[in-house]
Amino acid sequence: MKYMNTQKLTAQDLRNRYINFFVKKHNHNEIKGASLIPENDPTVLFTTAGMHPLVPFLMGTPHPEGKRLVDVQKCIRTDDIEEVGDPCHLTFFEMLGNWSLGDYFKEEAIKMSFEFLTGKEEFCLGLDINDISVTCFAGDDNAPKDEESANIWRSLGVSDDRIAFLPKKNNWWGPAGLTGPCGPDTEMFFWTGEGKAPKKFDPDDVKWVEIWNDVFMQYNKTAEGNYEPLKQKNVDTGMGLERVLTVMNGVSSPFETELFDEVIKEIRLLGNYSEPNDEIKKSERIIADHLRASTFILGDKFAVTPSNVDQGYVLRRLIRRAIRHGRKVGIEVDFCRKIAGIFVKKYCDFYTELLENQERIFNEMAMEEEKFGKTLNNGIAVLRKEILKFEDKKSDGLKVFAENFFFEMFATYGFPIEMIIEELQNEGWIKEKKDIEFVTTNFDKFFKEHQNLSRAGSEKKFSGGLADHSEEVTRLHTATHLLHKALRTVLGTHVEQKGSNITAERLRFDFNHGEKMTPEQIKKVEDLVNEQIKNALPVSYEEMTVDEAKAKGAMGLFESKYGEKVKVYTMGEDDKGTVFSREICGGPHAKNTSELKSFKILKEESSSSGIRRIKAVVGV
Ligand code: ALA
Repeated sequence: MKYMNTQKLTAQDLRNRYINFFVKKHNHNEIKGASLIPENDPTVLFTTAGMHPLVPFLMGTPHPEGKRLVDVQKCIRTDDIEEVGDPCHLTFFEMLGNWSLGDYFKEEAIKMSFEFLTGKEEFCLGLDINDISVTCFAGDDNAPKDEESANIWRSLGVSDDRIAFLPKKNNWWGPAGLTGPCGPDTEMFFWTGEGKAPKKFDPDDVKWVEIWNDVFMQYNKTAEGNYEPLKQKNVDTGMGLERVLTVMNGVSSPFETELFDEVIKEIRLLGNYSEPNDEIKKSERIIADHLRASTFILGDKFAVTPSNVDQGYVLRRLIRRAIRHGRKVGIEVDFCRKIAGIFVKKYCDFYTELLENQERIFNEMAMEEEKFGKTLNNGIAVLRKEILKFEDKKSDGLKVFAENFFFEMFATYGFPIEMIIEELQNEGWIKEKKDIEFVTTNFDKFFKEHQNLSRAGSEKKFSGGLADHSEEVTRLHTATHLLHKALRTVLGTHVEQKGSNITAERLRFDFNHGEKMTPEQIKKVEDLVNEQIKNALPVSYEEMTVDEAKAKGAMGLFESKYGEKVKVYTMGEDDKGTVFSREICGGPHAKNTSELKSFKILKEESSSSGIRRIKAVVGV
């Protein structure tokens, strides 16, 4: 262990150091990280980086907490889900970030990063400059070579040998969706190999581990693929908490840190073994990673439960994959709930939502495990029988299966794609990588159709999202507030927002309510919203603390740091101070409800247990 000789750095120590460094030494305000399920952004399923929820503020909307912010953001990335099981890949991770929204830029950002990494003072990590290398953007048609950042690193004592210039593929970040803020970045790497770090930095040497990324968000990528200068120059940084914890503890994998050690111990106890081979270790990591991610998804403030679409599908896949690997390591009892319990205990001091939602986490885990257990026990014979039907054509290869066969096995019987592949492997249908690709391509094709991801199928396909301040989207944001209030008036004040998703075409609103709405209730809600549109209510906002917002009777999600300022939108305040709707929200909104023209509910349906979903449009 190179650095923490006497005491191991814990995740909470690291969060505290990072936040205190920026708050106490560099005048930032701490904000609470956002939900894992993006609000009002149909272009992505999960929050994949700290910048994602802050897009409107990178685009120029003033943030109530000012221009210098710091946060810890929970993220999920599933692109590399197949890689999980090796020592380093994770689906869920925490990102520490400091932000300049049109305030400081390259020089101050890099100097602060350098100070935090190498400083010996309070809060800093005290790393040796000899263990650090950096990369900068090499330049292309869209933006110049970033000599400016390199010069700042040089001025801090980083030698030319330790600075590499790399292309967009490596040193550019964003946008989070298909359009929005982005820019060149400079990344910091730490030497994890034995002994002294080599004099010359080789970015391809895996012993140099990337630990931090300072992104200089100064462009907006448009739908046409152009890079326009943003109204303001921003800084977005991302430090991977698990990675830093790993290197600071001198271990070679996040799975060897305190974040996972109890869970790995429990898996071994349940599987009744003590000396895992490499295959078993891989399964342990998959179980630990997937159930940690699932615990956070189920514990999120926005209810997502296992299903066959969108986030629910990812969740189902994570849990089911963990269960399959549980069987591989010899666990013969239900175990997901138990592992989730360990994660809740480990994380709940910082992520209080896990404690608040623990019943949901445990119940859903247990239910999914039971369902999947039935599928596995009763259904595996079905899958084998189906595959066997094609046995006499085996020499013709996988193309003898109907194109939609693989997806149908999933849709009808709940077999995850990995299981279908495994069976095909066992039966000798799959021999090489291209066979797997054949199966997954066909599966994805039908899966996408089923998810209706092609939505509008037009140029508007990817409109909406946090970077979209178009008139349509803005009006739908305002309609969402009116709908929320109308639902509480008609159905009762138990109704709370459980999710919202806006595209240029429609709004989607999830809320808790035990039963299907009657046609009369739907009509009443519509009428009430249309009345507010006809009354042409002014829309205004004020910035205040969450407690002040509560005192004013604002609706909305009160999850934020103590004392943190939020925006509160008011619709229709008259002389006597009566309002139709007052709600915490980041905006953007119409200036007057009359801009909505009219409001219509297209659909009211169940979203998950106890949660209803409304799709609605304006101006038709
Ligand atoms: N958004 C940047 C990243 O995720 C900081 O690396």
